[in-house]
Amino acid sequence: MTITTCVFDAYGTLFDVSAAARQVANEGNFPQLETTWSELAAHWRTKQLQYSWLRAISDAHTDFWEVTCNGLDWALEKTGLNGDADLRQRLLDLYWELDAFEEVPGMLKRLKEGHMQVAILSNGSPAMLTGAVQSAGIGEYLDDVLSVESVGIFKPDKQVYDLVGGRFGCEPSEVLFVSSNGWDAAAGAGYGFETAWVNRAGEPMDQLPWRPGHVLTDLNAIPELAGLG
Ligand code: LAC
Repeated sequence: MTITTCVFDAYGTLFDVSAAARQVANEGNFPQLETTWSELAAHWRTKQLQYSWLRAISDAHTDFWEVTCNGLDWALEKTGLNGDADLRQRLLDLYWELDAFEEVPGMLKRLKEGHMQVAILSNGSPAMLTGAVQSAGIGEYLDDVLSVESVGIFKPDKQVYDLVGGRFGCEPSEVLFVSSNGWDAAAGAGYGFETAWVNRAGEPMDQLPWRPGHVLTDLNAIPELAGLG
């Protein structure tokens, strides 16, 4: 089936979720972060995702910003950095303006030049996603930014993936869904999307009933996978 629509996960896929902790460590105002920033970032991300899944399966939805704050508070306590309100606030402020990975603007531009429909499909709240898209300067390449908030449940619930066909009127098999989260790419494959898992960290394949169709180390090959020469 010809790909008509390229849909991207946001956090970790287009936007570098480690950038907030790394930047605070580099700023030098919080020396306690210099040796622990990567550990903090990893715990923050892991807990943020765990809380999203737990809230989805227990029918206790809240928005991704609250889940992000909850994950950070757990991670700060785990790394012995809790109690510093300024550090917490600086990390949260930076989450609204995460760096995009360097190949993102050029890759999205190629998709639009090839007349693809292009969108984000993310757990992020509309306000968070607006902030990240604006600060990365990629809004001009996106036809839409789809947030789980319109269905009130996090990925990988099927209702979230249904948002793509609802918005663009396409079949799942016409969609190339791209995620750096192995579980998200796998669930997208189970849903019927063409999928690419962007495995920047060289992680093992998630042991789930579905497998992503393609495994990449960055986003540069997405236009070719979408059928653009
Ligand atoms: C998202 C998270 C899962 O953007 O990365 O949906």
